[in-house]
Amino acid sequence: MSPFSPTQFILEHDQASPKEILRAAYGAFGELTLSFSGAEDVVLIDLALKIAPKEQVKVFSLDTGRLHAETYAFIERVREHYAISIDVRFPDTEAVQALVREKGLFSFYRDGHQECCGIRKVAPLRERLAGLPMWITGQRRDQSPGTRSSLQIAERDTAFGSESQPLYKINPLTHWRSDDVWNYIRMFDVPYNPLHARGFVSIGCEPCTRPTLPHQHEREGRWWWEDQAGKECGLHALNLPGDRPQTA
Ligand code: ADX
Ligand code: SF4
Repeated sequence: MSPFSPTQFILEHDQASPKEILRAAYGAFGELTLSFSGAEDVVLIDLALKIAPKEQVKVFSLDTGRLHAETYAFIERVREHYAISIDVRFPDTEAVQALVREKGLFSFYRDGHQECCGIRKVAPLRERLAGLPMWITGQRRDQSPGTRSSLQIAERDTAFGSESQPLYKINPLTHWRSDDVWNYIRMFDVPYNPLHARGFVSIGCEPCTRPTLPHQHEREGRWWWEDQAGKECGLHALNLPGDRPQTA
């Protein structure tokens, strides 16, 4: 089999539906590893289970230890609804303890979210992705004009892969807008986080997420005390200026 080429994949599937993009990714990799935290990801789980056998659909979620109680209930609901196993990953105990001992439980409000996200999300993600050829995310271009507007349906993930062990990221919802996601959720009775009914749009950790006001962009509810431009936690560091990878 020839090596995966994001450029070719984009040429062939950029205008395809998310379901067709997933089907093509399944054809290319023989399994689908989905990262799961929000509404978009459940849409992808729902679609993936329509096109691939359950054993080949691998779902993981990063539990930072700081999620809302509603988010934990939501993760459990998704697990039960689809009768799937969800690989919930936790941060390294020693690293979390050292951070909290040194800087307390809310250091991110003082010196930025990167350090805490690094320990609670990025390191566990790195461990989960080790050795994998691809992973799927629920990112959309219109989620963040500052960082996601040039997102592609397929990218080489140079943040978590390496020269000798290439890793690819597939973003089937790149061209979907929020409306498309919610139409799908309503049409197919997909479970969603009850916090959405309380004004939350983009949901991350409890101390770093707040509801958005009418006409505020969804991303403004995340790390609101920080500058708009750097609002990526490290899972998608490739989205930051200058870091967009070559697709070849
Ligand atoms: S974040 O980087 O700012 O936190 P966001 O909440 O927009 O990301 O989610 C974008 C995508 O990143 C999700 O669709 C999902 O694929 C992945 N993701 C984000 N947070 C998690 C998490 N806690 N566990 C697993 N995947 C996640
Ligand atoms: Fe820590 Fe906030 Fe990042 Fe969660 S979103 S890992 S609480 S800085």
